[in-house]
Amino acid sequence: MPSTVLVGAQWGDEGKGKITDLIASDFDYVVRFQGGNNAGHTVIHGDKKLALHLMPSGVMYENAVPVIGNGVIIDPGVLVKEMAMLEAEGISCKRLKISCDAHVIMPYHKDLDGADEKRLGSNQIGTTKRGIGPCYQDKAARKGIRIQDLLDEKIFRLKVETALAQKNPILEKIYGLHTYTVEEICDEYLPYARILKPYMEETAQLLNRALREGKNILFEGAQGTLLDIDHGTYPYVTSSSCCAGGAATGTGVGPVNINRVLGIQKAYVTRVGGGPFPTELTFPEDGGTGQDAVDGETLCSVGHEFGVTTGRKRRCGWFDAVIARYAAEVNGLTDVALTKLDVLSAFDTIKVCVAYECDGKRYDYFPMQQSVLFHAKPIYEELPGWKDVDITQCKTYGELPENTRKYVEYLEEITGVPMSIVSVGPDRDQTIMRGW
Ligand code: IMP
Repeated sequence: MPSTVLVGAQWGDEGKGKITDLIASDFDYVVRFQGGNNAGHTVIHGDKKLALHLMPSGVMYENAVPVIGNGVIIDPGVLVKEMAMLEAEGISCKRLKISCDAHVIMPYHKDLDGADEKRLGSNQIGTTKRGIGPCYQDKAARKGIRIQDLLDEKIFRLKVETALAQKNPILEKIYGLHTYTVEEICDEYLPYARILKPYMEETAQLLNRALREGKNILFEGAQGTLLDIDHGTYPYVTSSSCCAGGAATGTGVGPVNINRVLGIQKAYVTRVGGGPFPTELTFPEDGGTGQDAVDGETLCSVGHEFGVTTGRKRRCGWFDAVIARYAAEVNGLTDVALTKLDVLSAFDTIKVCVAYECDGKRYDYFPMQQSVLFHAKPIYEELPGWKDVDITQCKTYGELPENTRKYVEYLEEITGVPMSIVSVGPDRDQTIMRGW
């Protein structure tokens, strides 16, 4: 496994953090390639839980070099705080490498993110309001400020001045928000440059050299396939390339160097924010009724489905094989890690969506038009459960109840991808390796 991409195969929050943490020690480099501090995952350090938003998980392992690739966008204040938090916990950030080409999230990006969401009203995306969309907009519009610009005060001032000439009128005249001065931004951002300078590097060269030397690289995806700017449920997506292909553009490593693509799939599905979700089980407070509302509430409470970054209650639903097959194709998944299987121990029977129905037509594959996805009715297969059997202590696949194994094998059959890792609890040792 010289280089492996790990990607979320649903709408994010599939449990990538646990799996990354589990396999990261097998790699020499652990690289973030897209997104910013909209991501969030919890890692266990001794008896403490630490939340990482920007730092690659490799930071937890002394043998691994954590790298923030060019495709990532960096809020320097957040990164500096995260580094200080890790150092205070005794975790060294000395090995961190930051791509000098990564773009910087500016204060006005965060303001514009919030203001634009407000403007959209009931059509809002439900963003994390971390400035992600506006920062990637500036990048694509060739107006962005990169982390390397912080190294030269003259260049940085000039770029901020140019940016503010456009942003201030938008902030003030369109949204009625406060404006910024160049001085204000320089006072906040230039001290970050002094802290981050020693970590900045030409990371594409670094990673290609590492590959030539036979080193192993883990590309750590954030968010998930259906939040990908190209392949997700647009416009209810994030603004980066979360799919496996993003690992190449987001780091400068050629696609031929990627040997394995591990998709992370939860044994059910969740999403935060707006947008279509065919298998969604609506909560009672959102108008859900009957068994569906009970099942939705059970998935949320048993699965502790609340966002790490936002604390929001996640929308919950049954496993959707249509999106699993789609994710397998657009990422080229070689295998899957199935997570949170233990949560399903709460049910008598378990539903799996095998296809959709819309206007009398059956869809076995992801529909071409998003409107179909909005109106799609899931076609379910109902499988017998293993209610109240505690599977969290099972160490081998053979120890799992027969119905649990049947569930896993059914998912493999209908999605066409082998499940090489099965997670049965939050801890590292609550994981069954089946061919990793
Ligand atoms: P943004 O990335 O903040 O622009 O948000 C765009 C959409 O992606 C929203 O629906 C967010 O809730 C969702 N999103 C962003 N990051 C994550 C994540 O790490 N997990 C799950 N959803 C996310």
